[in-house]
Amino acid sequence: MKQLNMHLFTLIILFLVLAGCTNSKKTNESHVKTAVQKELFGILDDGTKVFAYTLTNANGFSMKVISYGGIITSIKTPDRKGNFDDIVLGYDDLEGYLEKNPYFGALIGRFGNRIAGGQFTLEGKTYTLATNDGNNHLHGGERGFDKVVWELKEAAVENGVAVTLEYLSPAMEEGYPGNLDVKVQYTLTNDNELIVDYHATSDQTTIVNLTQHTYFNLTGRESDILDHELMINAQKFLPVDSTLIPTGELRSVQGTPFDFTSFKRIGKDINADNQQIAYGLGFDHCWAIDQEKKGLNLAAAAFDAKSGRQVSVYTTEPGIQFYSGNFLDGTITGKGGKNYGHRSGFCLETQHFPNSPNQPDFPEVVLRAGDVYKSTTKYVFITKS
Ligand code: BGC
Repeated sequence: MKQLNMHLFTLIILFLVLAGCTNSKKTNESHVKTAVQKELFGILDDGTKVFAYTLTNANGFSMKVISYGGIITSIKTPDRKGNFDDIVLGYDDLEGYLEKNPYFGALIGRFGNRIAGGQFTLEGKTYTLATNDGNNHLHGGERGFDKVVWELKEAAVENGVAVTLEYLSPAMEEGYPGNLDVKVQYTLTNDNELIVDYHATSDQTTIVNLTQHTYFNLTGRESDILDHELMINAQKFLPVDSTLIPTGELRSVQGTPFDFTSFKRIGKDINADNQQIAYGLGFDHCWAIDQEKKGLNLAAAAFDAKSGRQVSVYTTEPGIQFYSGNFLDGTITGKGGKNYGHRSGFCLETQHFPNSPNQPDFPEVVLRAGDVYKSTTKYVFITKS
């Protein structure tokens, strides 16, 4: 009898322990429903499969990334009423991205932005790159990192969901020296942040300037972005010549259309009678971020009063290119049949300054063998009433 009681007692304890375990797991799951889903997105002409991963955080925010170009094809966040919308421009299928892509959502490299005349000199040797933007080199050339297939994998992180993208760019690809080993991680945290970590090494001295070319439209609708309010944390911007190459000057924004030191409607000064606005056909310039400290600094924030959505951008980079979608002209029909009209999306591209390899006074973009290139940008999504 005593023995039976002991068995019963042990069984009850075992049951309680097991029940406790399952319960705590259930509680966890009901709070945190993060998910990573993999699917085939399309197949390239040479038979290469392009995969997509959809990352969903604990609050239902989601983003989709494809292995072609490291492209972020969607980011879905709630408006102030809790309705989710896709707030980035792009296509529903691979064909769209292959046919005509003004860098929607893409990873950009090896050198984001322009290099004058497509030439630079490194350790006494002159390198010639493709001139794919008039006489200048733009966003890594004819087949930059936006057009290559990355190795896309799920990654384990503490507070959210993540994927890594890896690409080995062979020496002299697009004219750049050194085999460049690139790794980028996209993390969607449970604090509603998208963190982009860039990492690169080379076996020879080379140049690197990586960025992300997502076009945002925080309304999630087919509208222009002129009513968005923008703040750029910069007292100075980089004036350009008529081909959008910085002159080398860092000019005060004070009293110019380039003053976004406090929130201002993007549309307010976009058509101002100003030489720089004329060159950019609107805003297409780099600002020198006020770097208050080492590490991540606030670079910019954009707010859409209609939906209440705001995105704030923090970065370790010294510059941010604000491009107001001036070349979008209504000839692109994107996701869900949306027509992307003039200025229907804007980009906030964190980076080193354009044409740095030819401007000794700009922060250096040289990566030497054995050194590590590291850069981080964080986008924080919130809603405001
Ligand atoms: C550049 C624009 C260019 C656009 C292409 C931006 O990063 O600054 O001049 O037209 O990319 O989509």
